Amino acid sequence: TWTMLNIVEEQVEHIRAQVGEGRAICALSGGVDSAVAAAIVQRAIGDRLTCVYVDHGMMRQGETEQVRHDFEEVFDVLDVVDAADQFIDALAGVRDPEEKRKIIGREFIRTFEAAEARVFGDLEAGAATAYLVQGTLYPDVVESGGGAGASNIKSHHNVGGLPDDLDFELIEPLRTLFKDEVRAVGEQLGLPSTMVWRQPFPGPGLGIRIIGEVTRERLDLLRQADAIAREELTRAGLDRDIWQMPVVLLADVRSVGVQGDGRTYGHPVVLRPVTSEDAMTADWARLPYDLMERISTRITNEVAEVNRVTVDITSKPPGTIEWE
Ligand code: XMP
Repeated sequence: TWTMLNIVEEQVEHIRAQVGEGRAICALSGGVDSAVAAAIVQRAIGDRLTCVYVDHGMMRQGETEQVRHDFEEVFDVLDVVDAADQFIDALAGVRDPEEKRKIIGREFIRTFEAAEARVFGDLEAGAATAYLVQGTLYPDVVESGGGAGASNIKSHHNVGGLPDDLDFELIEPLRTLFKDEVRAVGEQLGLPSTMVWRQPFPGPGLGIRIIGEVTRERLDLLRQADAIAREELTRAGLDRDIWQMPVVLLADVRSVGVQGDGRTYGHPVVLRPVTSEDAMTADWARLPYDLMERISTRITNEVAEVNRVTVDITSKPPGTIEWE
């Protein structure tokens, strides 16, 4: 933990030098990475940092309200932007995973540019450099093809998904760290443990967990199924043992089922529980059978249109954690 403290101090100095008397905005997602990045930058430049949270319409059930509640106490200025229509419209008709990721990365930047103009516009009239704080980790860089000897596995929204005409100068204090190190820094900085130990959730959100086109209806379905799975995992006391458990909607697949005394023709969802140290590799998690049964029964009973629940038993490699 000496090293963790050193990293924080080093970054604080570096950011002070970089930003000078300028101002920065931080892209907060609700997750630990961006929270820790924001906390470090706040140490460096105090209230010249403004945190922006974008609701892109692909967040999980109750998430935006929860982020608003949890973060407003820690970071005094929290700008919450409702950009759901903008993102979902931009994704209309798109099925390719990389294309989705690039569109989402681009729309994030457009939203932050608008937020920057709104928050700082009157102060600086476009004169100074615009700084954007991101919680980018080392694995995000590697998987997006930025690390030594790495190939492009998938474009993380905050790295390979960035548009070419980026106007922001980036501040990424966690770019050399793994998630366990980020959590250690978060604890050192005194962030609440709900924030520090939150399971990872990808920036592109449920958009990369719908296999097929992203639509509002499909997002609603997936949100319901995901909420049930998360609720049951928490109830089983497994939140810390399981690294994360994406629920994936196979939106273009239908299968025949029977429920009550009628035929159904609905979509399958896939549970993707994994254990991992750093998300670079992962093992499929052996969930207790009774937990899987509860999740399956509840999802098929409570989510109209989902009539089958399956479990992904592929490790990483050869699978990745997310399906897209
Ligand atoms: P994969 O699917 O590559 O995921 O095995 C590794 C970890 O990264 C998360 N992930 C992302 N996080 N933006 C993020 O902030 C992204 O674009 C992104 N893609 C994947 C994933 O949830 C897992 O924890």
